[in-house]
Amino acid sequence: MDVLKGIKSVEELSLEGLRVFIRVDFNCPLTSEGRVADDTRIQASLPTIRHAIEQGAKVVLASHLGRPKGKRVPELSLAPVGERLAELLNQEVFLPEETVGDGPRKVIMERVEGEVVLLENLRFQPDEEANDEAFAQRLAALADAYVNDAFGAAHRAHASVAALPKHFVHKGAGFLMLKELTHLGRLLQAPEQPFVVLVGGAKVADKIGVLTNLLGKVKAILIGGAMANTFLVAQGLSVGRSRFEAERVEVARTLLVKAQARGVEVLLPTDAVVAREATEDAATEVVSVAGIPEDSMVLDIGPETARAYASRLATAKVVFWNGPMGMFEKAPFVAGTEAVGKAIAHSTCTSVAGGGDTVAALSRLGLRPFFTHVSTGGGASLEFLEGRELPGVEALRQTT
Ligand code: 3PG
Repeated sequence: MDVLKGIKSVEELSLEGLRVFIRVDFNCPLTSEGRVADDTRIQASLPTIRHAIEQGAKVVLASHLGRPKGKRVPELSLAPVGERLAELLNQEVFLPEETVGDGPRKVIMERVEGEVVLLENLRFQPDEEANDEAFAQRLAALADAYVNDAFGAAHRAHASVAALPKHFVHKGAGFLMLKELTHLGRLLQAPEQPFVVLVGGAKVADKIGVLTNLLGKVKAILIGGAMANTFLVAQGLSVGRSRFEAERVEVARTLLVKAQARGVEVLLPTDAVVAREATEDAATEVVSVAGIPEDSMVLDIGPETARAYASRLATAKVVFWNGPMGMFEKAPFVAGTEAVGKAIAHSTCTSVAGGGDTVAALSRLGLRPFFTHVSTGGGASLEFLEGRELPGVEALRQTT
């Protein structure tokens, strides 16, 4: 199915003079002093915001920040995000103290074309996560047109994402949303072969849906990170004191059987970097996966595995990567993640990466610019690749 079927681009909407509600995902990490620590998500929505400004819209931005659980948590105010946005746009961003109601309505009413308002954190209202219809109506009263650019929140059936768009005839997707859906959609629709998927991170549960859905489309699956330990246990190996998921061993075994039946190659670590402690100055050892010491933990893939994965990745035409190979945040355990990251970066393949830790690793290693597409959505990109419908995308489709 065409992922963009029935969805208008923001470019197709005439926005001049209209109050345009743009749902963005400004869920940015903050420093301990409350400033924006990483503005990637703000930068990613600038093209859509600038377009609306240039078209002469009164721009009404709305986002969540963190998980305040329906209460006003001052540390999770969008004020620092608004400050950063104002710097990037080089114009004032008006910040009403509330998310809905008379306060924001007045601030928006006073605006002229091209001015920008950022509503306070949507999740200060319990009705947002409850996908409450009355709350959606109150949000709808603030605007004449709706644009969703918040791919990172598209998997949440929350009011600003799911219930709200139904109130608008003039609605569409922002440039970031379109870019995400296009790049990720290509992975699901006849990707060029060989298509190789590289997964890591802690939990099998987070990735099993994606792996199962992609089985019919990939040539090879490469597994690293703590989730690989669960696969090693499924093969009868002992992983010492390493993290693994006892309750997912059967799931891992089933995936290996299904992959074999479909002729999909699955690469698991053959060696590992182990240590007794996961510290910056840990004494490390490289061991075969058949000989992981009882008192040690696997904290990275070993050099032999890294070489094997790198050479498999080098021959791929398309790569999707989600999840680091080890505890890359600590210097003794970064080599595996660095080796696979560089192998993808140096190849001419179409490379798509997603997930908070993977993106953090790419930034830390300076590899981001070498990837075809780095998704701003963690959970959203995984749910999309699981083949699930995202409420925020479905709500944008024109019904007539
Ligand atoms: C994210 O950071 O992945 C999105 O902003 C969604 O946030 P959530 O997981 O708190 O819904």
